[in-house]
Amino acid sequence: MVATLKGLLVGLLGWIDTRFPLTKWWNEHLAQYYAPKNFNFWYFFGSLALLVFVNQIVTGIFLTMNYKPSEAEAFASVEYIMRDVSWGWLIRYMHSVGASLFFVVIYLHMFRGLIYGSYKNPRELLWLFGMVIYVLLMAEAFMGYLLPWGQMSFWGAQVIINLFGAIPFGIGDALTIWIRGDFAVGDPTLNRFFALHVAAIPLLLVALVFFHIIALHEVGSNNPDGIDIKKHKGPDGIPLDGIPFHPYYTVKDIFGTGVFLILFAIIVFFAPEMTGKFLEADNFVASNPMVTPTHIAPLWYFAPFYAILRAVPDKLMGVMAMGGSIGVMFLLPWLDRSPVNSIRYRGPLTKIAVTLFVISFLVLGALGTMPAGDTETFIARVCSVIYFAFFLLMPIYTTIEKTLPEPDRVTMK
Ligand code: HEM
Repeated sequence: MVATLKGLLVGLLGWIDTRFPLTKWWNEHLAQYYAPKNFNFWYFFGSLALLVFVNQIVTGIFLTMNYKPSEAEAFASVEYIMRDVSWGWLIRYMHSVGASLFFVVIYLHMFRGLIYGSYKNPRELLWLFGMVIYVLLMAEAFMGYLLPWGQMSFWGAQVIINLFGAIPFGIGDALTIWIRGDFAVGDPTLNRFFALHVAAIPLLLVALVFFHIIALHEVGSNNPDGIDIKKHKGPDGIPLDGIPFHPYYTVKDIFGTGVFLILFAIIVFFAPEMTGKFLEADNFVASNPMVTPTHIAPLWYFAPFYAILRAVPDKLMGVMAMGGSIGVMFLLPWLDRSPVNSIRYRGPLTKIAVTLFVISFLVLGALGTMPAGDTETFIARVCSVIYFAFFLLMPIYTTIEKTLPEPDRVTMK
């Protein structure tokens, strides 16, 4: 019986393989993709990003089945999902918590790239694909936040779209009307944001994630030592420090997925709003163009950039600083001139710079969600300077500092 079943499956696979490169792809990208054997905790976040991405798409499809993208019905349709649709509350919380955790995972994933120099030659394009994904994710989250049509949805969109108005020569005003589709945020804005949020941006993201992984597999994974495992190959041509991705890292990633899902479930079931960090209290109030909330604050993942915007007194300069703070990350592969990749073998200057950068990013994040008094603005200015200095001085400090010798083979710390 078992032998017959096995025979059938083997036959089926052969039939597919003559028509579609299934086994070839499985081998190229999993069973015979040799990844460095020293991956650590930081290497969980790529597969977790994939997991959260799938969660967003699946829960998003179910939300769309009951959501109404119109000014008159949007808010009520979300309440309907929460109260009347079977399991609607769970689907909605999985989507809203998923959005925040997507950014947690992505920030950790990017930070790993930063400390191990994973953006350096030959992985520049991999990093650039990642950066485009990051910008699209921000657009996706921003547009998704308008959909519940609560006070924060409305006023957040109003504030951010108005930023484009800072562009001079009448371009800004024309641009804001073009983005909104009206003189104020309204039905046309909600409709187009819905279309972009559920179709256009997810499609682009799927394509980019695919390119991201293809680019990674073309050049091979970096690792915590930042050294090239292809330098030492056995007589069979396989890197001596490489292990097949499947089964070794599929099993490891399943463990990471398990731990992540436990944390995810705890948040979804016990703290889905995360004390206003994941879903703001004002967004449980229907949008009202006649009443401005006392304090309009972005969600935490936009907060560092919002703090940079507010730290600059001039509106146009502020918008440029905010755009520049994201744009400068695209240049990382060319700003970093260090002869070594991993932070393990870098000198003290990089270590100090990375520490200051992380502190300033976190402080900016905290400030971005608070009302801006004199002290807050002063601290935000100091942190903004540190933020930009980290990138712009990188060609200098990575050149002058003395690095440690890299090991010849990967180490298993
Ligand atoms: C939907 C979002 C994303 C998904 C699903 C994703 C997925 C992955 C996966 C599966 C890997 C291989 C496993 C690993 O190294 O952890 C990877 C590697 C990598 N990703 Fe992403 N990624 C995403 C976004 C980003 C972003 C925003 C960046 C940076 C701007 C980025 C930069 C990198 C780099 C540099 C590597 C290679 C790391 C190394 O080999 O050390 N990724 N990504």
